[in-house]
Amino acid sequence: MERVYIFDTTLRDGEQSPGVSLNVKEKVEAARQLARLGVDVIEAGFPVASPGDFSACREIARAVRGVTICALARARQADIDRAWEAIKEAEAPRIHTFIATSDIHLRYKLRMTREQVLEAAREAVAYAKRYTSDVEFSAEDASRSDPDFLCRVLAEAIAAGATVVNIPDTVGYAVPEEFGELIRTIREKTPGIEKVVISCHCHNDLGLAVANTLAAIRNGARQVEVTVNGIGERAGNAALEEVVMALYARRALYQVTTGIRTEEIYRTSKLISSLTGMPVQPNKAIVGKNAFAHESGIHQDGVLKERTTYEIIDPAVIGVPRSRLVLGKHSGRHAFRVRLQELGYELSEEELNAAFQRFKELCDRKKEITDDDLLALVEEEIGQV
Ligand code: KIV
Ligand code: ZN
Repeated sequence: MERVYIFDTTLRDGEQSPGVSLNVKEKVEAARQLARLGVDVIEAGFPVASPGDFSACREIARAVRGVTICALARARQADIDRAWEAIKEAEAPRIHTFIATSDIHLRYKLRMTREQVLEAAREAVAYAKRYTSDVEFSAEDASRSDPDFLCRVLAEAIAAGATVVNIPDTVGYAVPEEFGELIRTIREKTPGIEKVVISCHCHNDLGLAVANTLAAIRNGARQVEVTVNGIGERAGNAALEEVVMALYARRALYQVTTGIRTEEIYRTSKLISSLTGMPVQPNKAIVGKNAFAHESGIHQDGVLKERTTYEIIDPAVIGVPRSRLVLGKHSGRHAFRVRLQELGYELSEEELNAAFQRFKELCDRKKEITDDDLLALVEEEIGQV
């Protein structure tokens, strides 16, 4: 199976989530955990943005081994100098330089012509290449760019020495068929593309970041840029855990692997949530509190008989010890009996019926029934304990 490289940008694009700011110590702690998780590249920050971001990149480059450490730079010499200064002590440093390619960005933001952008892309990559052999080039707003111009810019970047070309859906506007098609067009029409890794970087403004990332992989992308818990600018970036577990759960379809130690996923999600102060929504795929919880009686009965009836992933694979059966008004006798057994009660059929009836009455008054509620209920019913 071919390998898909996981480029984690939690500490750069993820940190661009409104209200999030990590200090140097927190960033180093997060980077160590990302290395443990097995990501291939850590984008540590944007060194020219602030002295704090510069220091964080430098400390990560010094402290975290066994993974490529990357720093972002606009297509400007001063940015590239600063990025290199920050990461030069890394075991495997990468400079990531970018410039926008869409007409809307050229006209209103950059105030540059297409020819000037071509020139800037070429010069930035060549300049970064003087520092390190590993240079990534991104065409910002690629998905809203004229594909012919985009391919020309990518070809210039490759000719200047880029080893990875990244295709961002910067504003999360693409839909999967279209984004997959764009990657295919780039593969077919860009001279030199076979020498480099094609990367994708999808934002989640329409809730399609993961779907677009998977479409890119189907069409030949072999690096994906993702963040833990999907944090990032506005609605965030493609979630690392969702992309990785989709590739894992549907490996027969995708025929690719990653280097991720999946059993570290849950711990990593918790750490990033606590460092950033961004809670994970309960129904979030893979790492949400309810991702492996079952409330309805039919589902609980199925899972108790055979887990795979209602679970596509064994929670242990992502580091969650086991699924959770939530006792509430939709729960059935099977789950109720099993939970009581786990709490040490073997009830007769008659006792169980009576206790179950009381339990259902309680459920109409209380949403989620805890073990303490169950203990009180059984104590009242049968006088045990
Ligand atoms: O979303 C984007 O276009 C980016 C680039 C800098 C890669 O974050
Ligand atoms: Zn981005």
